Amino acid sequence: MSENIIYCYSGAGHCLDMAKSIAKILGDTDIVLMRSYPAKTDARDAKRVGFIFSCMAGGLPGDMESYIRDIQIAPDAYIFAVEQYAGYLGCGLRKIDEIVDLDYWDAVSNHSTAIWLMPHTLTVPPTTPEKAQKRIDTKAAVVAAAVLQGKQSVKRPPKAAAFELMSKGLGKTHAKRSEKFEASDSCIACGTCVQICPRGNIKLEGKKPVFGTNCIGCLSCVQYCPKQAINIGSITEKRERFPNPRVKASELTEKIIHID
Ligand SMILES: Cc1cc2nc3c(=O)[nH]c(=O)nc-3n(C[C@H](O)[C@H](O)[C@H](O)COP(=O)(O)O)c2cc1C
Repeated sequence: MSENIIYCYSGAGHCLDMAKSIAKILGDTDIVLMRSYPAKTDARDAKRVGFIFSCMAGGLPGDMESYIRDIQIAPDAYIFAVEQYAGYLGCGLRKIDEIVDLDYWDAVSNHSTAIWLMPHTLTVPPTTPEKAQKRIDTKAAVVAAAVLQGKQSVKRPPKAAAFELMSKGLGKTHAKRSEKFEASDSCIACGTCVQICPRGNIKLEGKKPVFGTNCIGCLSCVQYCPKQAINIGSITEKRERFPNPRVKASELTEKIIHID
């Protein structure tokens, strides 16, 4: 039994890195990974319960919303959420608030891991990955201090009807995009993509990964391929990857990471 539980969805490691930073300050925390069904849904023993996730297509990523509905939280627990996004907040924080009634929420912008859409370095205003990481580390310290103080947010997270519509089409969009995933000749059949896919959607056939249509668009396979061999059509061939340098591929396949 841990004093704190942080439920974390992370595709390229940035939210997991932030969850670890916050957990180190809080102490005694289980970080429960949420790209697949969470290994722990009974959080009734926890004094504090957090959600740290990335904005995807304007909303909550993957099946996070239905997973959250299954989580049991003690009535007197302190509940917080932090979102990372690239350009806009979307409706994810609001969705979580509607389900669990957040005490406190915050958000921070990062480079975009959606590299099929744009290079991750294209940010407004321009910044570097190092500066973005610094901003996230600062925010992690602010959030952890607020959580330890039991701070209450005055406003609810913003309602965002347009983003709700956008995020509803998410499943279909990812299934369609996954038809374009392919491995180039640089692939060394190391199996990283097979292991990291939370849906078991990638298989090695004849030493080449083959992609199914059960994709949630986390892009972990694209971001963490050690040879940058996985592409989504030709658009990503020349685009730099942006996995978090402090998070290893193997950490994203853990179910629960405990931080003392
Ligand atoms: C499939 C996908 C969709 C995304 N959609 C949005 C979006 O709608 N709005 C936004 O601001 N950022 C979006 N992002 C950017 C991520 O929220 C951001 O890069 C985040 O830091 C990634 O954190 P992670 O590595 O923990 O998943 C998207 C990223 C991906 C991979």
